This record gives sequence, structure tokens and C-alpha cells, in this order.
Amino acid sequence: MASNDLNAIAKAMVTPGRGILAADESTGTIGRRFDSINVENVEENRRAYRDMLFTSKGIGDWCSGVILYDETLRQKSADGTSFVDLLNKNGVLPGIKVDAGTKALPFCPNELVTEGLDGLQKRCAEYAKLGAKFAKWRAVIDIGADIPSTTCIAANAHALARYAAICQEAGIVPIVEPEVLMDGDHTIERCEQVTEWTLNAVFEALYMNRVSLEGSVLKPSMVISGKKCPQQASVQEVAERTVRTLKRTVPAAVAGIAFLSGGQADEVATAHLDAMNKLGNNPWPLSYSYGRALQQPSLKAWRGQSANVAAAQAALAHRGRMNSLASLGKYSAALEAQK
Ligand code: 13P
Repeated sequence: MASNDLNAIAKAMVTPGRGILAADESTGTIGRRFDSINVENVEENRRAYRDMLFTSKGIGDWCSGVILYDETLRQKSADGTSFVDLLNKNGVLPGIKVDAGTKALPFCPNELVTEGLDGLQKRCAEYAKLGAKFAKWRAVIDIGADIPSTTCIAANAHALARYAAICQEAGIVPIVEPEVLMDGDHTIERCEQVTEWTLNAVFEALYMNRVSLEGSVLKPSMVISGKKCPQQASVQEVAERTVRTLKRTVPAAVAGIAFLSGGQADEVATAHLDAMNKLGNNPWPLSYSYGRALQQPSLKAWRGQSANVAAAQAALAHRGRMNSLASLGKYSAALEAQK
């Protein structure tokens, strides 16, 4: 694929007013979400849940792309249309999670490295044939007393960059996702330090692996206080520190930035994105690639019952609209209240 095709896809993923729905939970992760609503984790329930999300009216208004899991990429809507065709019909790009999850990193206690490079070239070729236009690989950096280590940051940056190069060679836009976890009691200052370190390492590795920045999308965590930190930073402070850190580390050539929500409450994740866009003058579009912060209210409304589909879709559409506004810096508490 010519590089301008990759660039056009990457740009479309972060069109102002639209963002990405992360619906790529592995079978284990969706099982944990289903446990919370007492729904059995079987293929038909996973299909029905994703069908509910993807047939939500007006999805294309706020959603530029959906990240799918391998199983979901091959599934169909109730009327027999494949999910890939259904999304395309609504102007939503299908994407695919390609990492194989995290494993303990040798000699680095409590640290993880993301696996999945073996055979990735072949898998990407198949995913491209099945209609995937972009991919995702998530690396995890935890903050603790003696972590992260240089080893963990370097190993994860290297894997992210190798993944990104393999995707681009297959004509697929890579979402590069280095997640600095918000678990723990660390301060926002410490999160800023670790995020800056991580992003510097990631962009050096992307350069070493000849990845085209214009044909890629960054999916970072926000600079935020640890969940258990007694001193929680304000929305404005999160916005200012996040944008400052990104400006220090992310080249302007990157097509766009689509944040993960990482366990933030839905409305807080929206408010943070909105505050960043209200700062203005950012070199890249700042958008969303939320999983939990988009799906949570919808999941709770659904509860595995077909009678609840309309309410669940309305809940998703509301979060979609609110985040769409936030990607333009036009969100407000008053609009949030208009359900
Ligand atoms: P959250 O927004 O729930 O963090 O999920 C986004 C994602 O895709 C994590 O890899």
C-alpha cells in the first residue's frame, strides 16, 4: 500500500469530532466485564453484545473506527451482515488488536512485556484481507517504588516499534499504545516523569524501525494522579501536564493522538479530553480511543437482555456524543445532563 493511503486512514481515525471505540477485549477481559452484569461468557453473548454496540444508531457520527478482537472480526450481525461490512456501511473503519497480551519480564520483578511479534507478518496479511484498516498493540508500564526499570521501558518500546513497522508494511495503520498505569499511590509529578521517559523511548524506537509517523496514531494514557494518591490533581492540571508532556515528546508529524481511558470514570475521561482541547494550539488532533469510558453505561443498561438493547444503545450514543464534543473542546456539564 502506498504511504499516502496509510496517511489518509490515520487522518480519518482522528477526524475532529470523531474517535475510536475500543471493543477489542480478549475473551478473558470481556468475561470480567460480563461477570459484573451476570452474563455468561459464551460466543453468542459476546457476539450479541458487540452487535448491540455496532448497530447503535448514528454510530458513524462520533465513531471513526472500532478496534475488534480476532473472534469479533470474523463474526456477523443478527441479519447475517459481517461486522466488517456493517461498520464500513456506517463509515466506521474496522481495526484489530494484534498483541498477544502481557507476560512477566525476566529479571524485572512486577514488570510486564507485551508479546505477539512471532508470526505477526502473516497475521497482519490475513487481517488486511479480512478488512482491517488499522491495528492496536498495548504496552503496559507500571509505576511503583523501584519501577519502571529502563529494561521494561526499552523492551516495550522496541516491541511497539517492531509491531508498528510490520503493520505499515502490510498496509495497516498502527495504533501505538504505551499505557502508563494509573493504579498505585504515585503523584501526578511522578506520572509526568514516567510518561515523558516512556514516550521518548517509544519515538526513538519508532525512528530506529523506520516507522512513518504520518501513518500512525498514538494512544497514550493521560498524565494523572495515581488512583490511590491522596492528592488528586484537578481536571485543568491533568490537561496542562498531559499536553505539556506530549509537546515535549511527540513529533508534530504523528497523524493524531487518541487517548485510552485507563479506568477513569466515564465523565472524568470526557472532561479531561475537553480541557485539553480547550487549551487550543495543539500540533495534532486530540481524540479518544476509549474502551471502558465509552462502554460502561451501555454494558450496565444491556445486562444481556434483548429488551434492553435500545436503552443500552442510547447510553452508548450519549457517551459517544459527549466525547465527540470533547474532541472539539465543546463539552460542558450542562450538555452532559441532557440525556
Ligand atoms: P480503556 O479506555 O478501557 O483503558 O481501554 C482502551 C484500550 O483499548 C486499552 O488497550
